[in-house]
Amino acid sequence: METIASILSLREHLGSKASVALVPTMGNLHDGHMALMKLARAHASTVVASIFVNRLQFGPAEDFDRYPRTLTEDCAKLADAGVDIVFTPDESELYPAPQQVFIEPPPISTDLCGAFRPGHFRGVATVVTKLFNIVQPQFAVFGKKDYQQLHVIRALTAQLNLPIEILAGETLRADDGLALSSRNRYLQATDRAEASRLFRVLQGIKAAVAAGAADLAELENNAKIDLDTHVWRAEYVAVRERNSLGFAGAEDAQLVALAAAWIGNTRLIDNVEIDRGAGAV
Ligand code: PAF
Repeated sequence: METIASILSLREHLGSKASVALVPTMGNLHDGHMALMKLARAHASTVVASIFVNRLQFGPAEDFDRYPRTLTEDCAKLADAGVDIVFTPDESELYPAPQQVFIEPPPISTDLCGAFRPGHFRGVATVVTKLFNIVQPQFAVFGKKDYQQLHVIRALTAQLNLPIEILAGETLRADDGLALSSRNRYLQATDRAEASRLFRVLQGIKAAVAAGAADLAELENNAKIDLDTHVWRAEYVAVRERNSLGFAGAEDAQLVALAAAWIGNTRLIDNVEIDRGAGAV
């Protein structure tokens, strides 16, 4: 595996490659990331993983400084997974001057997580577009765990006519259901024991919809109360139409329940896809 930090050198390495899949990450890799590498490998002969903690997508009071940086361990995992190239630019390589040109993501970016993290998706869209331009992959892989991010990236790829197929990796979970996330390492032991509630409340919504519950607002509200009465501070629980992330009408069958909530000093997100009319879960 080659570890490359410069854009020029990466371009030289990739010049002759026939099919390239990119997996953008911020490092602190876990099994969920490794599943994305595997998906990339199934589609392309050259797999590039990028590791870059992108300041642009963090708010001023967010965890940019304490975001776990574990480059040595990450590179060992990527090498084991058979990744061909890991791109590890530093900030001066990706942002040699203050970034003044941004990708404006679609309006849904100010809803759900975007309502609580102003500018987050603009930062994501901008860095991902830069990575797409640098690597020029045929495929790019993102996890469904960041459902709204995946939606934004699909939209920017389509609307900017980028010749890249976006592949979505399923969320990997711990035995108790907690979605794997780099931020899980912030959890204190008591919070970790409680953390799978987030998935359980979403599963509860899925079961209720399968059993015929039609009042989505009531389900959202009950789930939020469940979290808030168990040490959480819920930002939102929302059931949306899966493809637009807009409000779901009675006729919409493809839904997704999404949530973001704080436990201790850790903000977790999760989601569960729901096929209305699919019967009991
Ligand atoms: O999902 C992430 O890790 C980041 O948002 C991404 C896509 C690598 C952009 O910085």
